[in-house]
Amino acid sequence: MTDGNPPPGSSKENPDPNPEANPFSNDDSSLESIVRRFQDSMSSVKRHKFWETQPVGQFKDVGDTSLPDGSIELPTPLSEVKQEPYNLPSPYEWTTCDMDSEETCTEVYILLKNNYVEDDENLFRFNYSKEFLRWALRPPGYYKSWHIGVRAKASKKLVAFITGVPARIRVRNEIVKMAEINFLCVHKKLRSKRLAPVMIKEVTRRVHLENIWQAAYTAGVVLPTPITTCQYWHRSLNPKKLIEVGFSRLGARMTMSRTIKLYKLPDSPVTPGFRKMELRDVSAVTRLLRNYLSQFVVSPDFDENDVQHWLLPTEDVVDSYLVESPETHDITDFCSFYTLPSSILGNQNYSILKAAYSYYNVSTKTPLLQLMNDALIVANRKDFDVFNALDVMHNESFLKELKFGPGDGQLHYYLYNYRIRNALRPSELGLVLL
Ligand SMILES: CC(C)(COP(=O)(O)OP(=O)(O)OC[C@H]1O[C@@H](n2cnc3c(N)ncnc32)[C@H](O)[C@@H]1OP(=O)(O)O)[C@@H](O)C(=O)NCCC(=O)NCCS
Repeated sequence: MTDGNPPPGSSKENPDPNPEANPFSNDDSSLESIVRRFQDSMSSVKRHKFWETQPVGQFKDVGDTSLPDGSIELPTPLSEVKQEPYNLPSPYEWTTCDMDSEETCTEVYILLKNNYVEDDENLFRFNYSKEFLRWALRPPGYYKSWHIGVRAKASKKLVAFITGVPARIRVRNEIVKMAEINFLCVHKKLRSKRLAPVMIKEVTRRVHLENIWQAAYTAGVVLPTPITTCQYWHRSLNPKKLIEVGFSRLGARMTMSRTIKLYKLPDSPVTPGFRKMELRDVSAVTRLLRNYLSQFVVSPDFDENDVQHWLLPTEDVVDSYLVESPETHDITDFCSFYTLPSSILGNQNYSILKAAYSYYNVSTKTPLLQLMNDALIVANRKDFDVFNALDVMHNESFLKELKFGPGDGQLHYYLYNYRIRNALRPSELGLVLL
């Protein structure tokens, strides 16, 4: 069986039309026609009117070895950062979304639930829970001013959203303070009006006001210029439902009952000492994780506060398990996943697809394959329908063997104002964004 549809977020198309078209390949070689065909071919190369003006790796610079890695633009003195917000079209106004407020959090939840990322076939749409949004947007040291909404002035309805949260990201040997930008969303009725560039400029301005000059973000679309391109893989836990809602298809020469048998998992984890992470484990998990992440080219620089926030289990948001050696009581291995359901659009029988997303996993004693099999077992016990994982870090080593199938979309990773000349392989990336 193959999975037909990746979850939302992994399946947006590469919008680039064929940029390799050779303008000189035709027999007609008069200068005039050569020039015409050359111009035609140039206009077919996807332009990025906004992104071409930003300090990001540009397509024209790909392969230029004379450019240094690192910051593209130097910081400016804070007094030179624009003090007033960017102008919005006159029917709209900026709002700072207070995620502590139940009412505002509900407004954000509803905007995203109805307008955020869908898969290519519009079968599914991300449905981040309110608890998840509060967790994702309030890590240690977060800035309220980076939770930015746009309202219609007349109705006060929330119509667009973009956020940043602070993070220390290590790129090779350098630890860089960055903003992680996420949840860019414009109401369906306001699309294609160039609102997104204004929102990106506004969040950038507010990040600069905190003396932070770099950012990390992901997108399903190709923009200038990915530092790496990853693929989602999907492990069916509830294949019958996944097939019924169109997430996956019955494989050739497969029956439903053989498929169910193929994906069946044991009732409980097999690794002795496998248990849920607790508060008392924070320092051991931090050590384990820091040591593990240091081998990747790009990864977060987590301290104990970060680990407590991002990895201590939170019901229906993030799950973390570890292996405590029954003999020495050392914490030797760790695995985690976050909960991100999707709405199932227009299905009679089901409205929610419950998906777990692999987060950070570390194996030192338990083979990664066995550790992740235990993660699948606990996710299955918690009634997830599917377990998703990117091909980042060492994930490739278990995907096929644990019966993950490749999705058909890609997730591109980007840095703002930080050049990495040579794109990374996904396995060189130690960063998972939500
Ligand atoms: C993404 C979204 C906000 C873009 O808004 P839009 O109305 O389609 O596009 P706009 O006319 O406002 O702006 C277009 C510009 O934004 C850029 N853009 C589009 N999606 C982007 C993204 N995900 N990240 C960064 N820039 C993006 C475009 O490339 C274009 O700039 P360019 O001319 O330099 O290429 C909107 O389509 C949306 O809400 N989609 C559903 C949610 C979603 O996919 N969010 C992004 C998750 S990564």
